[in-house]
Amino acid sequence: MNSPAPAIRRLHTVSENEIAGLADVLIDCVEGGASVSFMLPLERERAVVFWRRVADAVAQGQRGLFVAEDSEGVCATVQLIFDLPENQPHRADLAKMLVHRRARRRGVAAALMRAAEAAARECGRTLLVLDTVTGGDAERLYARLGWNRVGVIPNYALFPQGGFCSTTVFYRNLG
Ligand SMILES: CC(C)(COP(=O)(O)OP(=O)(O)OC[C@H]1O[C@@H](n2cnc3c(N)ncnc32)[C@H](O)[C@@H]1OP(=O)(O)O)[C@@H](O)C(=O)NCCC(=O)NCCS
Repeated sequence: MNSPAPAIRRLHTVSENEIAGLADVLIDCVEGGASVSFMLPLERERAVVFWRRVADAVAQGQRGLFVAEDSEGVCATVQLIFDLPENQPHRADLAKMLVHRRARRRGVAAALMRAAEAAARECGRTLLVLDTVTGGDAERLYARLGWNRVGVIPNYALFPQGGFCSTTVFYRNLG
């Protein structure tokens, strides 16, 4: 029998248990080759420090943090970054879409995107921007969900094991 679909939740405070689960998801994605700011090896301590900073930003209202949970705990996450210049009050960046390999290809990322977009709309953030590895699984996800592809910046970042990857910039107008 299929296990139930992971539940999506917005976190307004982040517990130690949730930080541990988020660190697991980040490490799994980086070890799986995702170019999401970190190089290999990604030690647990570094991942935990990253999520503690995110938790502080969430507590200060600078970020919106969404998680999906399955029977093992946090299995996926995405963030909205609200902390932008004062001339962009209508905008947010979408960042760190991460789905643990155990939870992929079940629509979890799409559900997280819908939750983040709804929350952005509710607080008047009607223009969302993101960038993602060109040619990766996430690029298809965003295009499928109706995001507009702006263009490609060649050799923008490195893969976790080394080697350049290009990035594709997308936006979505929720107005
Ligand atoms: C990219 C990523 C977020 C997608 O997460 P996901 O939860 O697997 O995404 P979805 O399930 O919504 O969609 C993925 C695929 O599964 C398919 N799918 C969705 N539900 C499905 C289901 N019930 N049965 C079968 N397939 C399904 C989708 O159609 C999609 O197909 P495609 O890859 O051929 O386009 C995930 O692979 C990931 O975390 N990658 C590493 C980190 C990363 O690159 N993040 C992006 C940073 S910008």
